[in-house]
Amino acid sequence: MPLHTFILNGKRVSVDVDDDERLLWVLRDVLGVNGPKYGCGLGVCQACTSHINGKAFNPCSVPISAIRSSDRITTIEGLPATVGKELHPMQEAWLELDVAQCGYCQPGQIMSAVALVDEARAKRRKVSDADLDALRNVCRCGTYPRIREAIKAGEARMPKAKRKTAKPKAKRKRTKRKPVAPKRP
Ligand code: FES
Ligand code: FES
Repeated sequence: MPLHTFILNGKRVSVDVDDDERLLWVLRDVLGVNGPKYGCGLGVCQACTSHINGKAFNPCSVPISAIRSSDRITTIEGLPATVGKELHPMQEAWLELDVAQCGYCQPGQIMSAVALVDEARAKRRKVSDADLDALRNVCRCGTYPRIREAIKAGEARMPKAKRKTAKPKAKRKRTKRKPVAPKRP
């Protein structure tokens, strides 16, 4: 079987699986990463939502052959490390607002929420109600009102990306030199 390699939650991994194996099964069954959940397997329910190079995607709909060796895949397990904390601010907001009921859809909900905030920030704006309406993650338990609240709370907690434009250098103050008295022989 062909060898496939990519970066998973900050670490390079290699797997020996068929080209048409879907990434979700590679993550769950081969690599033992169970955060992305299996709901529909068709790119509809969003339970498996993870990030590829910082953007939300559904690994149930992507064959492993479409993943490049430079691709960075992040699942809910690797999310806290993206901010160097034990929990991502979006997860903290989730806990604070006690969002989860059975919990099955929640990893996908959180991954979608973080990608949504990042996307809005890239456009220099906040997450709008229209953005929240457009989310397609299914929750059988109907936790939608708490999810909406938690996304807003998580957005407020998420650290802003550092600006890339360098600050202009401060002008150096010129200090007048004291005149030095000539040395006497
Ligand atoms: S399991 Fe991936 S979208 Fe439903
Ligand atoms: S919390 Fe049960 S499916 Fe969403």
